Amino acid sequence: MDVIATASPAPTTIHRADYRPPDWLVPEIALEFDLAPAATRVRATLSVTRNGAHDRPLRLDGDALTPLSVTVDGAPVSWEMDGGDLVLALGGDAHSITTEVELSPETNTQLMGLYASGGLLCTQCEAEGFRRITFFPDRPDVLARYSVRMTADKARFPILLANGDPVGSGNLDDGRHWAEWNDPFPKPSYLFALVAGDLVANRSTFVTRSGREVQLGIWVRAADLPKTDHALQALETSMRWDEQVYGREYDLDVFNIVAVDDFNFGAMENKGLNIFNSRYILADPDTATDYDYDGIAAVVAHEYFHNWSGNRVTCRDWFQLSLKEGFTVYRDQSFSADQGSPAVKRIEDVRGLRAAQFPEDAGPLAHPIRPDSYMEISNFYTATIYNKGAEVIRMMATLLGAQKFRAGTDLYFDRFDGTAATCEDFVASMEEAGDTDLSQFRRWYSQAGTPRVTASISHEQGSGRALLTLAQAVPPTPGQPDKAPMVLPLKLRLFGSETGAPLGPERLVVLSDARAEVVFEGVSERPLLSINRGFSAPVIVETDRSAADLAFLSAHDDDPFARYEAMQQLMLDTLVAAVATGRGDHAAVIAAVKNTLTDAKLDHAFIAEAVLLPSESFVGDQMGVVDPDAIFRAREALRRDLGQRLESEWRAAYDATRAGAFAYTPAAKGDRRLKTVALGYIAAGGASDAAHLAFRQFEAADNMTDRQGALVTLTSGTSDERVAALDIFYNRYADNPLVLDKWFQVQALSSRDDALAAVEELARHKDFTLANPNRARALVGAFGVNQRAFHDLSGRGYRFLADQLIALDKLNPQTAAKLLPPLGRWKRFDVARAALMKAELHRILATPGLSKDMFEQASKSLD
Ligand code: PHE
Ligand code: ZN
Repeated sequence: MDVIATASPAPTTIHRADYRPPDWLVPEIALEFDLAPAATRVRATLSVTRNGAHDRPLRLDGDALTPLSVTVDGAPVSWEMDGGDLVLALGGDAHSITTEVELSPETNTQLMGLYASGGLLCTQCEAEGFRRITFFPDRPDVLARYSVRMTADKARFPILLANGDPVGSGNLDDGRHWAEWNDPFPKPSYLFALVAGDLVANRSTFVTRSGREVQLGIWVRAADLPKTDHALQALETSMRWDEQVYGREYDLDVFNIVAVDDFNFGAMENKGLNIFNSRYILADPDTATDYDYDGIAAVVAHEYFHNWSGNRVTCRDWFQLSLKEGFTVYRDQSFSADQGSPAVKRIEDVRGLRAAQFPEDAGPLAHPIRPDSYMEISNFYTATIYNKGAEVIRMMATLLGAQKFRAGTDLYFDRFDGTAATCEDFVASMEEAGDTDLSQFRRWYSQAGTPRVTASISHEQGSGRALLTLAQAVPPTPGQPDKAPMVLPLKLRLFGSETGAPLGPERLVVLSDARAEVVFEGVSERPLLSINRGFSAPVIVETDRSAADLAFLSAHDDDPFARYEAMQQLMLDTLVAAVATGRGDHAAVIAAVKNTLTDAKLDHAFIAEAVLLPSESFVGDQMGVVDPDAIFRAREALRRDLGQRLESEWRAAYDATRAGAFAYTPAAKGDRRLKTVALGYIAAGGASDAAHLAFRQFEAADNMTDRQGALVTLTSGTSDERVAALDIFYNRYADNPLVLDKWFQVQALSSRDDALAAVEELARHKDFTLANPNRARALVGAFGVNQRAFHDLSGRGYRFLADQLIALDKLNPQTAAKLLPPLGRWKRFDVARAALMKAELHRILATPGLSKDMFEQASKSLD
């Protein structure tokens, strides 16, 4: 174990086992904001009641607040500060507490609490931002009814929004005006929000299934109004979907969404007033890709669904975060699947899980979906909590079946409405409504690490019996050396190796022991195993299937997801072997890709996903010691071979998909996707006209999907058109920050030899700033996943990331800490790289004034 030199004392660790109910409750709070960018006054009046018999003082969380005055029941009192908290010793059981503080939103670079963004004033309170606005028991199990009064300069801030329903507004002298909002639903402080600014709304009226009218508004700057139709439509579709699929109706008279440019995450589900990163609202064909359009619909749905899974039923404490996030991701994934192709959606979600969550689960920051401890809760908004959390909900849905699952969610919502619940409450509801025992299944909440399943099948020709042997193991993770077997719902089916016909129906095998055997009867030919169909369990499956068997399954499996998986496994096996031997045997992959590419029965979106090679990092995840250069070479060689050997097929696919005018339909999206994938292969094959083709696509495009697709291909190449396209793109979109993000990101992901130098240069570009999280992620975040460039043997990539993180930590620790994990993967690399990575982690830790966020990520990454 390394000795870690740090500049500051280690922050304290919070443990789940230490949970205690709140000492004091706050049934009501009245807030008055006198808003101005440089100095905002906040006056809060809390009605507090003692919770149970105890004599502990009232402790109100505060972060960087100085009380200007404190009164109890109208009388000024003396108070005590403990760190940032305000502590009041109180006799009696019920009081009215008033505090006053002053804030400076325009200097709030953390983007937590009340801050300024693009001329607006807005708030972000999850998880612990409310304590940066006023003194309050800032924990999710203290639910209060909020009334909010705002006053502000009318010319600069003509629109004043807060949670709940508007109850009054008026003008004051001196050019100021006021507005009052009341939220009738008791809520935790993390759901508080207000927005003040010069905004216009795209409006609509939604009639709920019980006939109530809801006024919808998507609020943006006037110039952005034409880019809000897609988000508004997604909102209406989500509202209807939640009524139909979960029986959940909206409950206030208004639902507002505001788009802001500076935001730490994707969006926030504040009650009745969602606040969004503008990248998840603004779209038109000229500036947003199909991927952006899909992301907008998914995030709008996600935040809307939180109104029930998160707001009406909230979390008891932050260890239960996956209760709202895992469930809500599952809900938004199901929603998106229902809007387009479920198979393609599943492929995208699994690819995301493998890119972000599997590495997390295999690294130093691994944690269960319900963690046992944290230093800084902001660090736990992870792929594990969100995406693995969603997989755990999905497994319960699979185990129970649709009807019982719905009965379980109904019971959960009814029983816990208006309360702060736990993951255990959710599982118990499923158990009760589903009449199922989930005791062992609960291990998914407590054990970290991705289970590994091995499967092998043997066949007796004479008896027609096949025997499937399954085994599982969960790897050790930090703090959890020994693991018990998990409950793994595995959908499987056998196919004949000669006929390709299914040998019997699909079966759901629930593997709950370390080993199990499954017998199949009536198996008339050698069977091929299709396993974990639809990715029914979030596990790694190892089989002894040959390249030929995988190729055969990729053509004959009746589950499109399983076909994709067979192809991926074949590509992965081929690449891993090529890295090991230095020479690739590409024949099976080329034949399988050709087959899929030319199968007229398949839709283009599916083909495009199926023929893509696994990412360099995913190949690395299969290896004991990652060799980024060898992986890059092996993958490029396979891409080149595929490009050359199937050149006429790629060209045919490219020509067949030249769609007409832009339409956002599943078929047109699939066409565009396949077109750009084909272009990439034509270029990889080295065709002499590839750059010309790409540039023509770039120039002729009537939509961002085609334009960016062509730019990606050009950017990784060496043609003259490359520089021209980057310049044209930059000049065309110089005043559109969301599109400029793409310009930075495309270059940060480039596979050129000079990618690292280019990224260092881009960090000095006049349009680069760490102050905007989207921009920081577009360059620094994207670079961290460019495996070859980041892991440059010189160590310059590591130094670059550490430099940026140290600088960003001073402005915005939350966003900085999220970008650190690539440096923590040193155990998976050779000793030279590992030493360089560790040195940067040590350098980060030795930085004076390091945030708690960064300390936790960096110190855990060294363990
Ligand atoms: N709760 C938000 C969501 O997933 C995410 C978020 C967390 C946003 C913290 C801001 C701050 O929907
Ligand atoms: Zn969420």
